[in-house]
Amino acid sequence: MNGKDVVNVSPSNAFRLVHPMHTVLISCVGADGKPNIITLAWAMPTSISPPLVAVSIAPRRHSHSLIRETKEFVVNIPTMEILDATFYCGRVSGKGRDKFKETGLTPMPARRVKPPIIKECVAHLECRLHSQFETGDHTIFVGEVLEAYANRECFTSTGYDLEKAKMVFHLGGDEFATLQPKIFKPKL
Ligand SMILES: Cc1cc2nc3c(=O)[nH]c(=O)nc-3n(C[C@H](O)[C@H](O)[C@H](O)COP(=O)(O)O)c2cc1C
Repeated sequence: MNGKDVVNVSPSNAFRLVHPMHTVLISCVGADGKPNIITLAWAMPTSISPPLVAVSIAPRRHSHSLIRETKEFVVNIPTMEILDATFYCGRVSGKGRDKFKETGLTPMPARRVKPPIIKECVAHLECRLHSQFETGDHTIFVGEVLEAYANRECFTSTGYDLEKAKMVFHLGGDEFATLQPKIFKPKL
């Protein structure tokens, strides 16, 4: 066409072109009080005031029902130290099982919401459901951030210390990457 040498990607696979995506662990809880964890690559901040984050979850996921039920969730930030547990929570459904027990991840009480935070993660955003949108075969749950905090040793006022917090980025399938901590500052 224009002489540019490209690889064609089918529209249903086009999402792979915006990966790697920062991977998060969402903790949620049912009305019965049983907590669950789901791994998500599709999550993003979407407003500063009010502070909102959006997560995209397919309706067949157990966590989808739990968030609908109790209208709260926590966005937990995992690091490479818990890569195996992060992948496990993204491959096994929590319906009828306990992913906290199976992975060894530790639930700790949150400050303002019912779902527990995940102790082994380096940061936590406690959210109350603000709104939700059907989007094709996923639902976007928008959470209002009620509380947010990070481990002191890996977060300063300017952001994460990437030497200490090896974030998990999902390339696709069972492939992940982390950042080599080299900071670039563009010229204005
Ligand atoms: C790295 C990774 C990223 C994922 N991202 C998403 C996502 O953004 N949205 C989604 O609905 N499922 C995603 N999944 C799949 C769910 O995590 C998976 O189906 C999980 O077992 C659902 O758990 P649940 O049934 O206990 O809620 C991802 C899985 C992996 C491994």
